[in-house]
Amino acid sequence: MNKEDCLRRMRVALRVFAPLRLCAKKSEPTMQYFRPEIEAMAGYIPGEQPQAGKFIKLNTNENPYPPSPAVGRAIAAAVERGLGRYPDPLATAFRSRAAELFGVSPDWILCGNGSDDILTIVTRAFVGPGEKVRFPRPSYILYGTLAELQGATSEQVPFAADWSLSDAFAAPAAGLKLAMLPNPNSPSGTLIEPSRILELAERLPCPLLVDEAYVDFAHTHCIELVKRSEKIMVSRTLSKSYALAGLRFGFLVAQPHLIEQLVKVKDSYNCDALAIAGATAAIDDQRWLAETCGKIIATRQRLFEELRSLGLDVVSSEANFVWATHPSKPLRPIYEQLKSQRVLVRYMDYAGWGDGLRISVGTIEQIDALLTLLKPMM
Ligand SMILES: Cc1ncc(COP(=O)(O)O)c(C=O)c1O
Repeated sequence: MNKEDCLRRMRVALRVFAPLRLCAKKSEPTMQYFRPEIEAMAGYIPGEQPQAGKFIKLNTNENPYPPSPAVGRAIAAAVERGLGRYPDPLATAFRSRAAELFGVSPDWILCGNGSDDILTIVTRAFVGPGEKVRFPRPSYILYGTLAELQGATSEQVPFAADWSLSDAFAAPAAGLKLAMLPNPNSPSGTLIEPSRILELAERLPCPLLVDEAYVDFAHTHCIELVKRSEKIMVSRTLSKSYALAGLRFGFLVAQPHLIEQLVKVKDSYNCDALAIAGATAAIDDQRWLAETCGKIIATRQRLFEELRSLGLDVVSSEANFVWATHPSKPLRPIYEQLKSQRVLVRYMDYAGWGDGLRISVGTIEQIDALLTLLKPMM
């Protein structure tokens, strides 16, 4: 992380956590026992999740549609069976269905409490204090936080103006233990073709985690690469395409000798019984998935065209959101005005890169409401 980035995150954290920090004075005796990395870091700040009031929520890339009806039934049946026992530590039912879907055996799958849990497990397993994690910039901010938690450093390789990745992403570097690549990327929604990812992975001196949180909205994916290269791991989530962000379920596809090591790092019961039941029913309903992603992709196209006609620069997206910038207009006031009218989008400002609005693809009605509000502001 560069200095500017570090200062920006510290300023945000000070603002958000000011009341807590008042209690956590250095003079209080227990403070000295924290690892210095923890005290120094700002901590990851997730997108706003208002718990009261009615908002059109287009800020954290949730799916606006209800999940497959099979999910509710499966969760109700799990409740009926009882919650007195610990869940299956390996989520065997889910593993088997996912393995079938991807043409691998179940020992290629590791389940997690959301894909953030998978990212945490992988970082803890590969990266130690003083070592290095590489990821592109701008991309998912959590990668840097996970590195900080390990007492490791981040090396951010900038995307080119056309959102391609240069060979610098694969260059050798002292202490480099893990590379992470969101594909499609957030906030841009852009995708690097699997052939290029294989090329980069083959040159990299360390394993590469391809974070496919948004890949069900894209035209291709990297699961086949995992079969070709033991250096490539692919993480997925049920939070976005399967409309289950509240359930917390994600998974990793990697060769079995890697999964065997990663299992040692995870919490014993990292996925609860309700999440395992719901996620298994969800992945079984591929017809629901295809229909829902189809609707979102159609609305994404409309959103893309309308935003462009309003004078915004919009990147062609393969995810369930679009990234909009403006050559001259400041975008923070627009984010604030939308919020005051109860429409939440995500305002991002990447030091040295610029700012923009990341807008999740909602229902047709939600996008109409957003566009109606946006028009007079542009
Ligand atoms: C690129 C990327 N990866 C992973 C995640 C984490 O998703 P979850 O923990 O809900 O599975 C997100 C969430 O927004 C994301 O944007």
